[in-house]
Amino acid sequence: MPQTKNLFISATNTNIGKTYASSLLLKYYAKKGLKVGYFKPFETGVITTPSDGTSMLNLVKKLNPTFNVNINDVVPYQFWLPAAPYIAKKDVIIDLEFLKEKKEYLERFCDILIIEGAGGLMVPLFENFFIIDLIQEFKCKTILICPSKLGCINDILLSVEALKARAIPYECYINLYENDNDFKIISQPFLKNYFGKLNFLDDLKV
Ligand code: GTP
Ligand code: MG
Repeated sequence: MPQTKNLFISATNTNIGKTYASSLLLKYYAKKGLKVGYFKPFETGVITTPSDGTSMLNLVKKLNPTFNVNINDVVPYQFWLPAAPYIAKKDVIIDLEFLKEKKEYLERFCDILIIEGAGGLMVPLFENFFIIDLIQEFKCKTILICPSKLGCINDILLSVEALKARAIPYECYINLYENDNDFKIISQPFLKNYFGKLNFLDDLKV
């Protein structure tokens, strides 16, 4: 049986475009004929239902009607406080084995599972355990969503250093949503030399 391909979507920080990028990737792979799935282990700022998880699940069900799962499978940990899971969870114990089982369960319904992290790579889940450690547990390639505003070189290189230090395979995708004209002048020349080739989120639009 072919193994499900997984991609873990992270970013240099919160609000950089992980959910937006996940929606583009889901459409991109669905267009290639793959059955797509989505997993968001943690959603914070949830009052009644997880809004991001729900809209992504609705999108996935349109793209892959066989993704016959419910929102609590897609977003197993839902917290009210918009903060790192370490804080937002309060007394709840985050169970890694439970998350791995959820991931394996969702994999049964798709060829490719898009997993969205919370915030950036060094967001704490519990004492001395961060999103980047969860990526290692999940054995996933990382798609790092990168900003394009001033300061992005520093932010991107710090995240890339962390991924390299743990030998996690990764690809960077730049989100031109903010400051796309300035980016070409201010940041692109260095990044192009450093990485050789740059990927842009816009390239994924189908
Ligand atoms: P958290 O999960 O809260 O950490 O944020 P995120 O990294 O998932 O960011 P998200 O995709 O929610 O993007 C933040 C906001 O910017 C949302 O309102 C998005 O709709 C918007 N946004 C981000 N990138 C783009 C883009 O390239 N195009 C458009 N139209 N909107 C974008
Ligand atoms: Mg998001």
